[in-house]
Amino acid sequence: MRVNPRKAAIVGCGFVGASIAFRFLQQGLFSKLVLLDVDREKAEGEAMDLSDGLPYASPVEITAGTYDDVADCALVVITAGANQKPGETRLDLIGKNTAILRSIIGEITARDFGGILLVVSNPVDVLTYAAWKLSGYPRQRVIGSGTVLDTGRLKQLLGEELRVDSRNIHAFIVGEHGDSELAVWSGANVSGIDLEHFCRLRGDGLHAADMDRLYQSVRDSAYEIIKRKGATYYGIAMAVGRIAEAIVRDEHAVLPISVVLEGQYGQEGLALSVPSIVGRNGLEEVLEISMSRGESLALSASARQLKEAIAALKL
Ligand SMILES: NC(=O)c1ccc[n+]([C@@H]2O[C@H](COP(=O)([O-])OP(=O)(O)OC[C@H]3O[C@@H](n4cnc5c(N)ncnc54)[C@H](O)[C@@H]3O)[C@@H](O)[C@H]2O)c1
Repeated sequence: MRVNPRKAAIVGCGFVGASIAFRFLQQGLFSKLVLLDVDREKAEGEAMDLSDGLPYASPVEITAGTYDDVADCALVVITAGANQKPGETRLDLIGKNTAILRSIIGEITARDFGGILLVVSNPVDVLTYAAWKLSGYPRQRVIGSGTVLDTGRLKQLLGEELRVDSRNIHAFIVGEHGDSELAVWSGANVSGIDLEHFCRLRGDGLHAADMDRLYQSVRDSAYEIIKRKGATYYGIAMAVGRIAEAIVRDEHAVLPISVVLEGQYGQEGLALSVPSIVGRNGLEEVLEISMSRGESLALSASARQLKEAIAALKL
């Protein structure tokens, strides 16, 4: 079916799905937005509530729909599934959420869908790989939100620490969106000025202990938020909005989305987050950035953990 570049769907209208819909509404990226949830009334209620804001936004038709409405979407965001309860890791969600994903992918592939699948449900890297495998779509069209959120968290914390606009910080969190993720400190810079030099210019130092503290805050951020308010949704909504913008505007933007690897970084048979170019067709290219030896080893360890989780799924 012909893809409508201005039409998107969100499958799963819980905290995350509804927040992403709200973000899309504010961005004015789409002219049609379809909401789906097993709880049909929830999707209807969200569509009604969001539509009340239309006089203060750009025109967009927001409806609670069915999978038939998904077929011509340029982008389908999957947020259905259980979220982490206090103390639970993302990998603990694997069984429940893979079963849910399987049913969703079955519905989508039964239609003539030609758009991009963007997986957000956790564990996002495992589910991105599962969505790719189960759908049979080219890997360019099946991506995950990956560590775009975590990278934003790192930029925000580093910006605070260095007293500089977080948008001027270039640094990546890569690997699993989860406990084994890592920060690529070796390439971090502030508008092209390497981190150490920038700190000297500011009369400060950023020591190994500071970096470790910042990394741990990023890695444990979701746990801390969930402990306090039960779920995380605004940050991920902003991150997904950024990915959607890169797709709709064909930006060729560099974002650490979760992608199926085919030998890059010496890895295959899994999806994980590495800097990638994102545009109208989804994944354009995986960028193999240089890393220190320690970072490369940590990336391999993260990949090993994800592969074990994938193997247990028997896809
Ligand atoms: N990738 C990230 O960075 C990130 C960040 C935050 C949350 N998440 C994940 O997003 C997911 C959703 O979190 P939440 O807080 O919105 O949870 P939630 O419980 O509020 O919402 C989940 C929604 O999915 C719906 N659902 C369940 N099965 C479905 C199906 N088969 N088809 C359609 N809808 C179905 C439920 O009815 C519910 O409305 C979780 O897996 C969570 O871990 C990911």
